[in-house]
Amino acid sequence: MKMIVTGGAGFIGSNFIFYMRRTHPDYDLVCVDKLTYAGNLETLAPVMDDPHFRFAKIDICDRKAVYDLFEAEKPDVVVNFAAESHVDRSIETPEIFLQTNILGTQVLMDACRKYGIERFHQVSTDEVYGDLPLDRPDLFFTEKTPLHTSSPYSASKASADLLVGAYHRTYGLPVTISRCSNNYGPYQFPEKLIPLMIANCTADKPLPVYGQGLNVRDWLYVEDHCAAIDLILQGGKVGEVYNIGGHNEMRNIDIVKLIIGTLGKSEDLITFVTDRKGHDMRYAIDPTYIHNELGWLPETKFADGIQKTIAWYLDNRPWWENIVNGSYRDYYERMYANR
Ligand code: NAD
Ligand code: TYD
Repeated sequence: MKMIVTGGAGFIGSNFIFYMRRTHPDYDLVCVDKLTYAGNLETLAPVMDDPHFRFAKIDICDRKAVYDLFEAEKPDVVVNFAAESHVDRSIETPEIFLQTNILGTQVLMDACRKYGIERFHQVSTDEVYGDLPLDRPDLFFTEKTPLHTSSPYSASKASADLLVGAYHRTYGLPVTISRCSNNYGPYQFPEKLIPLMIANCTADKPLPVYGQGLNVRDWLYVEDHCAAIDLILQGGKVGEVYNIGGHNEMRNIDIVKLIIGTLGKSEDLITFVTDRKGHDMRYAIDPTYIHNELGWLPETKFADGIQKTIAWYLDNRPWWENIVNGSYRDYYERMYANR
């Protein structure tokens, strides 16, 4: 089995590569990554010399490079994690989101059509469903919930999902799509809520909470997401969408206070800043379908996962300090200085 994993130098893709090396040691994995600001080859150091692993620095929008790779590697399966993934950046510069997330996905699927594939799996997000009101805790996203996006990021992911469905219906491409809730865990880029708050808190820097911090996200430990994708690859029905989430809804402010408490810092660090434009209020996944069809259940309780994650960031300071002290500093200044 040869699998191309795109975006494998990022947060979830790298965790997926480590997960697959452990659980399917006979698979050959080819990581395709453009190494944008979010991709980090250091993350992949543990597998770089592994004979079952190969890294290819390729932009998924580069049709020739992608076709050459398919020609050389003849993959059986493609799992597409590659994306621009940060909502705030999509509000600043939408165009690169449309290029990578939509057109890049198209190039990959064209390569799959040209060279043949057993499965193309698109890693999507619950953000394609828009948001739910805070006063309706009875409502959840199911696979039947209409797509209704808020940000350029979520619009680009929803567009890609539609294109994936179209390639299945029109060309018979054997596709599956998964839509997962917010992930947390090791190797998440420190622009996202949890690692940003851990990094700032350890340095006694202000903790920028958007609006009043009442927005709700449904958090899943990254390995549980990886396990779900593996199950979909093995037993998922072609043409289907699978929602992935562990019924773990939390308000942002409560996550921030939990991190402060664990690190023994003061809540005075909390700084309420101007809200994100178009800020989604609540995400909440109904995972009944993947549970009933494939037997998936999350294994990591949030209370354990968040402690493991905080411990990982404390034990791996050079990994994120290099980022925080590098060109990311300019982004942070731009995004937070006058907020
Ligand atoms: P990330 O930003 O950490 O990593 C993205 C990776 O894709 C990086 O390594 C980057 O270099 C690479 N990349 C970007 N553009 C590329 C291009 N044109 N060609 C090749 N590689 C490119 O993102 P993540 O959080 O790991 O998310 C991975 C996927 O999972 C995304 O598709 C995202 O939409 C989806 N997702 C994320 C979450 C979450 O909570 N992080 C939740 C649900 C779904
Ligand atoms: P984020 O990690 O960017 O994920 P997403 O927007 O894709 O859900 O943000 C999670 C939540 O945290 C979201 O409601 C925005 C909020 N947030 C802050 O309050 N402050 C911050 O500095 C960041 C990055 C996010």
